[in-house]
Amino acid sequence: MIEQTLVLIKPDALQRNLIGEIIVRFEKKGLKIAGLKMLHLSDVILEEHYAHHKHKPFFAQLKEFMCSAPVVAIVLEGLNSVEAVRRLVGPTYGSTADVGSIRGDLAMTNINLAHAADSVEEAKKEIERFFTKDELFAYKKIDEDLIYGD
Ligand code: PPS
Repeated sequence: MIEQTLVLIKPDALQRNLIGEIIVRFEKKGLKIAGLKMLHLSDVILEEHYAHHKHKPFFAQLKEFMCSAPVVAIVLEGLNSVEAVRRLVGPTYGSTADVGSIRGDLAMTNINLAHAADSVEEAKKEIERFFTKDELFAYKKIDEDLIYGD
């Protein structure tokens, strides 16, 4: 199923000059960029985005970190893109994430370079949270037939 998913490239990636390195991995996989922008996250949007972590001990630290610098928000489109992108990003802790994943190759802890939506339902909500309809683009890429076949 062709899906859209949401990624946030986090402040540590910006500070470590890794924005390009992360985006290129999504592009090389064959995912289509349907939307992309840089934004400084507000407390209000972080309270909503991480509402499920509100009562965790790290919540204040997480919010402080996520607004310490801008993030890059991306909507990626492709076959089973929610799962594909989660696998490309890797699990939370960089030190034990699989080599080959973004976190496994480039991160050491749970300060982990990128957020990826964890389900199709959540991806829809997150895309609506960060993008308006006119910030999303439908277009054909010339490599689609090679990536997906007929
Ligand atoms: S839990 O309790 O297992 O559900 O939480 P976990 O998956 O480990 O972490 C949830 C998200 O919080 C981020 N996190 C932090 N970021 C910065 N600093 C600190 N101290 C910190 N602690 C947790 C973690 O990277 C997860 O981010 P997302 O964006 O959801 O991947």
